[in-house]
Amino acid sequence: MDRTADRRSGEGSADPSGTSGRPLTCCRGGAGEGNRTLKCGGRRSRLASRRNRVDRHNELVRLSPVGARLQIRPGAEAELPALVEALGQRPFFADRLARQHQGRGLLLVAWLGDRPAGDVYLLREPADVPEVHRYLPGVPQLDHLEVVGPLQRRGIGTALIGAGEDTARRLGDQRVALGVGLANVEARRLYERLGYVDWGHGPVVGTWPAVRDDGAAVAVSQLIDMLVKHL
Ligand SMILES: CC(C)(COP(=O)(O)OP(=O)(O)OC[C@H]1O[C@@H](n2cnc3c(N)ncnc32)[C@H](O)[C@@H]1OP(=O)(O)O)[C@@H](O)C(=O)NCCC(=O)NCCS
Repeated sequence: MDRTADRRSGEGSADPSGTSGRPLTCCRGGAGEGNRTLKCGGRRSRLASRRNRVDRHNELVRLSPVGARLQIRPGAEAELPALVEALGQRPFFADRLARQHQGRGLLLVAWLGDRPAGDVYLLREPADVPEVHRYLPGVPQLDHLEVVGPLQRRGIGTALIGAGEDTARRLGDQRVALGVGLANVEARRLYERLGYVDWGHGPVVGTWPAVRDDGAAVAVSQLIDMLVKHL
């Protein structure tokens, strides 16, 4: 998938789920904790227990951003500053918003409130990798899937892929493809879980423009496997 060298997601941010600071109380129950639970009975323990329930409720809300609070929609030019603030990669987002304007693809952005939580680009123009062009003509690709580091593993990536597939389906596509780096076994596991299968033509070299942290434009190449899903 298309990646750029100045990715900022996940760097230097605290985990908003707050699980590391979660207070531990003695009334958590569970096998083997019965004695401790009994020993701390009385008003204090009831208060602790109520606080624990409230904490757990808050934790559930924080750990489940997918739902009413998560909105996925095509990005707009005016949202470029917010995208760059959350995810970096100004040249990438400026380019994809311009392509979207020309009808060449769609930049889908997941929002939590007024902050972007992740994005995926649905590429609907001929692939520049020759083998992909040859074996998957006219098949759109989900490209540059990413979720802000501290918000990963909350279902947002899954929701973005679903939104990309729905969009492709609405546009009349019957298949969608994506590339995954050979070493990115975690992402591949996610795709396979969602029904993507290897295209059967072996790895290809994906090359894409990237921007280093110092602003220099570079080309990045990587061996990728192509996966396909019937919609
Ligand atoms: C891949 C990615 C978009 C998934 O988003 P997510 O919101 O974490 O995904 P979900 O919560 O819907 O699903 C979780 C699954 O994603 C995969 N995953 C989780 N963290 C990951 C990470 N840091 N890198 C790659 N894949 C990851 C795992 O398969 C995980 O399943 P598991 O919890 O059973 O191990 C996100 O982790 C990410 O931005 N990773 C870095 C960029 C990247 O590798 N993009 C994919 C390029 S092909």
